[in-house]
Amino acid sequence: MSSVLGLFDSGVGGLTVLRRVLERHGPVRCIYLGDTARVPYGCRSPEEIRSIAVEVVRWLRQQGVTTVVMACNTTNALARDVAEGQAGVPVIGLIGAASAMVREQRVGVLATAATVASGAYRTSIEALNPGAQVFEQACPDFVPLIEQGDLQCNQLRRAVETYLKPLKVRSVQSVVLGCSHYPLLVPLLREFLPEGVRLIDPALGVTQQLDALLGPPKTSHAGAVALEHCRLCVTADSEGFQDRATPWLGQRPQVELVQLQS
Ligand code: DGL
Repeated sequence: MSSVLGLFDSGVGGLTVLRRVLERHGPVRCIYLGDTARVPYGCRSPEEIRSIAVEVVRWLRQQGVTTVVMACNTTNALARDVAEGQAGVPVIGLIGAASAMVREQRVGVLATAATVASGAYRTSIEALNPGAQVFEQACPDFVPLIEQGDLQCNQLRRAVETYLKPLKVRSVQSVVLGCSHYPLLVPLLREFLPEGVRLIDPALGVTQQLDALLGPPKTSHAGAVALEHCRLCVTADSEGFQDRATPWLGQRPQVELVQLQS
């Protein structure tokens, strides 16, 4: 049986992971769920996040996925164990993949409030990089603003400046994009960060981990990616999602509106 990847996130963020997967592996069979009815996850309680993760993974398994990619750091941080228990198939997450990409001693992490409160990034980076100093910054305004679609709006610029300030004071050498929405902010982040600070996108580590399942890298696209074997699903606002997904995917994708509870 060929593999079917199931990726999920609260909204468009996980498309940054999907895009990296398709860039490296070509037209992979996959189902993407953006749980737009409940975005953002990052301001919710651990209990809510865990119950959402179980529900989403159950739905993905009902659709026939054979590997789950948690394209959402917040559920990875707080609900990895219950997601694995529900999945019964391999589950791949972003946090371990990102931590393995760290090379610097002074590392900043931008993430949702829930991810930062969990300490999952600090624990994982310190375990893999003894001696590293980790500075975490919660960015509660980022996801709601990104989901509104204007990635250059003044509010977002002000938020970037505010959230980067404490990391700049600490002279971090790299910054982990610890929420899958944040790669969409790379041009803005670069504007406000000193030259030489490395941005770490966990999705690149995840795609490399997928080589074991999907084989060696096949292709590298700069523009549109091959979506013909992908089913993109959301729990609300399918048209708005299409609009927001278009620049990132290089094409206007078909999007299905689904209900998770049967
Ligand atoms: N993109 C997700 C993450 O990686 C969730 C963000 C949110 O919904 O708050 O954490």
